[in-house]
Amino acid sequence: MITLTDPPTLVAPTAAVRATYLVGEMADMKDRGASTEWLAVASRDFDAFVAERIGVRERWGVPSEVFWFVSGDFYLGSLVIRHRLIADQGGGHIGYHVVSPWQGQGHATEMLRQALVKVGALGISPALLTVSPVNHASRRVVEKNGGVPDGINHEGEQRFWVPTPASSSAPSPAVAV
Ligand SMILES: CC(C)(COP(=O)(O)OP(=O)(O)OC[C@H]1O[C@@H](n2cnc3c(N)ncnc32)[C@H](O)[C@@H]1OP(=O)(O)O)[C@@H](O)C(=O)NCCC(=O)NCCS
Repeated sequence: MITLTDPPTLVAPTAAVRATYLVGEMADMKDRGASTEWLAVASRDFDAFVAERIGVRERWGVPSEVFWFVSGDFYLGSLVIRHRLIADQGGGHIGYHVVSPWQGQGHATEMLRQALVKVGALGISPALLTVSPVNHASRRVVEKNGGVPDGINHEGEQRFWVPTPASSSAPSPAVAV
C-alpha cells in the first residue's frame, strides 16, 4: 500500500497530477470494462482537459463544479457538486468516484465529508444523494456521513438526505432545497 504523506483534499482540477490522473482513471476504466478512448484525448492536451473542468459550469442544466481528491502528486478520485437539483432530482447534489487502485481505504468517506462542508457553505441543508440499491460501498459512504434514507426515486435509486455543517438539526425530507 502506498503511504500518503499529505491528507487528501478536494481541489480544483489541476495539471499537476497529470500522470496519476491518467494512470488512475485508466486502471479504473479497465477494471470496469469501460472505454479508455477519452483518456487518449485527455493525454494529448491535458492542460485543455483540465481547463474545461475548472470552475462552476452549467452541467445537466444546473450550475455544478468538479473537484479532484488529491494528496501531493496522487490523484485519488473525482466529485461533482450540483448547486441546484435538476428538475427530477436525479443524481442529487453530489456524485463521486474513487479510482480502483485507491478504493477500500476510506477515501470516498472522507471525500464526501469534505464535500458536505462545501455544500453547506452554499446554503444547501440537507444534501440529497442517490445511490443504486446494489452499490453497497457507496451506501456505506453515505450512511457514515449521516445519510437518512428517503425512498426510491424514478431511476430506481435510493434517496438519502445527508446533513451538512450548515444544518445542525436532523435532516428532514420536508426541507426545500
Ligand atoms: C463507491 C466508491 C466511491 C467507494 O469508494 P471507497 O473509497 O472504496 O469507499 P471507502 O473506502 O470510503 O469505503 C466506504 C465503505 O464501503 C465499504 N466497501 C468498499 N468496497 C466495498 C465493496 N466492494 N462491497 C461492499 N462494501 C464495500 C467499505 O468497507 C466501507 O464500509 P465500512 O466502513 O462499513 O467497512 C467506489 O467504490 C467507487 O468509486 N465506485 C464506482 C463509482 C460509484 O459507485 N460512485 C458512487 C455513485 S452513488
